[in-house]
Amino acid sequence: MNSTNPPRRPSILVTGAASGIGRATARLFAAREWFVGALDRDAGGLRSLEAELGSGKGLFRSVDVTDRASLAEAMEAFGQATGGTLDLLFNNAGIDAKGRFDAMAWEQIVKIVEVNLLGGLATIHCALPLLKATKGSLCLSTSSASAIFGTANLAVYSATKHAVKGLTEALAVEFAAFGVRAADILPGIIDTGMLTAEQKALLPKQGMWRVLPAEAVAETVWAAYHGDNLHWYEPAELAGYDVQVTTAPETARNNRIAGRLF
Ligand code: NAI
Repeated sequence: MNSTNPPRRPSILVTGAASGIGRATARLFAAREWFVGALDRDAGGLRSLEAELGSGKGLFRSVDVTDRASLAEAMEAFGQATGGTLDLLFNNAGIDAKGRFDAMAWEQIVKIVEVNLLGGLATIHCALPLLKATKGSLCLSTSSASAIFGTANLAVYSATKHAVKGLTEALAVEFAAFGVRAADILPGIIDTGMLTAEQKALLPKQGMWRVLPAEAVAETVWAAYHGDNLHWYEPAELAGYDVQVTTAPETARNNRIAGRLF
């Protein structure tokens, strides 16, 4: 009699799974036979994802990441479905708001911080017991190229993405103590609901600020799980931009290098 257990099906939990980068990632991992936990505040988008993937492919929950109690409930249901494991947390839900800081309403500023920073912190905090219980697990967050150099006309968004990047660096050191990895992805300009048709038309067709499909980031999520980098740039050329502006931040400021796009 063969007493070997069948291999455990790996699992990913994606926030912001109803659209854009999160949806493309859910799709890619489901196609590669991972169990997918899809969380989003957009219930309709999740229903269409479930219809597309098939309900056997995962767990689909309408959750606002700023509501810690409903996040915790969703994590519990996910843990029940996976036998208490989580191989890859993709902490990805986010919102943006373009425009000058002095023209933003206070409520808008608070909302961006609540979703992009507090929501991400809550997601990681709730998922940590599952990650700790899973050998080789990865806590992966979506930062942004706007975390390389503060982006004018996206100041608050850019500040939250710097926070995500810094958090990731700190957690990568802390979590190593219990065998959990941490990393982030810094996408440049990705063709999702965050870009208007008008912006897309104005953006460059070549170079590191060209518009990339969400599927390119999903492949980077896959590479991140199987690799060991701390920061994953998409496209990869953005790593050179990071070195450039870190070495000469005043030059970047004086050239308004990061303020040209928006
Ligand atoms: P998207 O708008 O297509 O997707 C974001 C998803 O997050 C949506 O499904 C939305 O319903 C969900 N979401 C927003 N607030 C939420 C909340 N409070 N609770 C639960 N779900 C919530 O945009 P995209 O581009 O796919 O964004 C994904 C991540 O990528 C975000 O963190 C964004 O900041 C980041 N990013 C996007 C870039 C781009 O050019 N599109 C570039 C760099 C980073």
